[in-house]
Amino acid sequence: MIQNKIPLLDAVTEFIATRPAYFRVPGHRLDKGISPRWTNIVGEKIFAYDVTETPLTDDLHCPEGAIDEAQKLLAVLYGADQSFFLVNGSTCGNEAMILSAAFAGEKILVARNAHKSAMMGLILSGAKPIYLMPEVICEWGIQGEITEASVRKGFAENPDCRALFMVNPSYYGVCSDLVAIAKVCHEYNALLLVDEAHGGHLYFHKALPVGALAAGADICVQSMHKVTGALTQSSVLHSKYHGVGAEALGRIAQNLQLVQSTSPSYLLMTSLDCARYELALHGAEMMEKALFLAEYARKKIAGIAGFRCMESGRIDSTRLVLSAREIGLTGYALEQILYEKYAVNMELADQENVLAIVTYANEIQDLDRLIAACTEISETRIGHAALQREKTYPPFPPLPEQVLTPRSAYFSKKIFVSWQEAAGQISGQMIAPYPPGIPVLYPGERISQEVWAYIECFRREGRHMHGVDGDQRLENIQIIPE
Ligand SMILES: Cc1ncc(COP(=O)(O)O)c(C=O)c1O
Repeated sequence: MIQNKIPLLDAVTEFIATRPAYFRVPGHRLDKGISPRWTNIVGEKIFAYDVTETPLTDDLHCPEGAIDEAQKLLAVLYGADQSFFLVNGSTCGNEAMILSAAFAGEKILVARNAHKSAMMGLILSGAKPIYLMPEVICEWGIQGEITEASVRKGFAENPDCRALFMVNPSYYGVCSDLVAIAKVCHEYNALLLVDEAHGGHLYFHKALPVGALAAGADICVQSMHKVTGALTQSSVLHSKYHGVGAEALGRIAQNLQLVQSTSPSYLLMTSLDCARYELALHGAEMMEKALFLAEYARKKIAGIAGFRCMESGRIDSTRLVLSAREIGLTGYALEQILYEKYAVNMELADQENVLAIVTYANEIQDLDRLIAACTEISETRIGHAALQREKTYPPFPPLPEQVLTPRSAYFSKKIFVSWQEAAGQISGQMIAPYPPGIPVLYPGERISQEVWAYIECFRREGRHMHGVDGDQRLENIQIIPE
């Protein structure tokens, strides 16, 4: 197929050009009914593209025209059998993957560093998760890869698992050996489901790690908004048949209807079509630029006294993981100084590090501002004592006991108890420090002393946590009485 077409952009443009008397939703009537406070700042034109299923613009849930063509172009570009536009982010893609792969009561291997959307998929499907712990990269205090050996062990102990769900690359850019892992999954007749939310760009440059589909994954989900130029919430799901799970693959479209809006945004979908077009025509140059910028900054930052920057060999090299612990700064403190003093806004911080995502749309000036800020921070803080890791946060806790599946726990009767008395109880809720939104505790798990102590560190420091329903201070927690 010819990639230099943008079918959905063309279809919407053609529809607008007919200058219709418009009696459909949305009610803002293309570009006329949006608050002038907003249009005075951003202009009106873009709002005309916020249309719906008109005679020219196709229907996401039953595609036969422009959306169908756009999704097929996407599939060809990524080497998928089928590709789907997602308007509720990779969140809904992860839910649909799990819903498609495992029914209630069936087992599924789930990497424990999975985003909380995996837990939502488990609640929806009722599947029983068997968790795999990722390696820990002690030097950086972050979770690392899922090893082939741990996957093999997981399947050997649970040969009836329907699938493995894992994240690749991780938020920090850490990649696992997907080629080897896909082989193990297929040996056990199980699907490899990859949350590739951070990896839609991997397919366009040989210096980047291999993408999930190319490595043999059966289904993967990518947040095209994160690094490949689409608008926020715009993601895609791809599937490819490898002789395993034909029925599960056949359920994807139906499951996507369950988790997506019936009024999908044409702005988001058009942004996906345009992002695909740019990647198809210019992907290699775009990634070349991102790689160059990231490498440029990595070298300079590694030379700043008191700073470290993770080497590119370990990760997707467009990610910059920085630490200034040697001059006494936690990742949280560094992130705050970088923004408040230098208006340098990082993607996330943890107790050790800050993370920058470098994309093709950054300019060298952005990296120079980051480097200059780090240089000045170094000069002002040199001589401060290094932070000892064990004095701030305990290590990642071991897996707690799973008493109930996430679904059974979600629908169980719960009561509130004080957080201080929560250790030893069965949690009725998830707790995920945010970002990155990886649950430390799933509903239905017994709150071990180690998990309690780990979460307590976040709580004491007033860190943002998801799953705590308005009680951000986590004074109380929902538990399931025994
Ligand atoms: C690993 C991972 N998976 C899934 C998601 C959810 O993606 P989205 O924001 O596109 O819904 C995120 C969001 O940060 C993520 O980091």
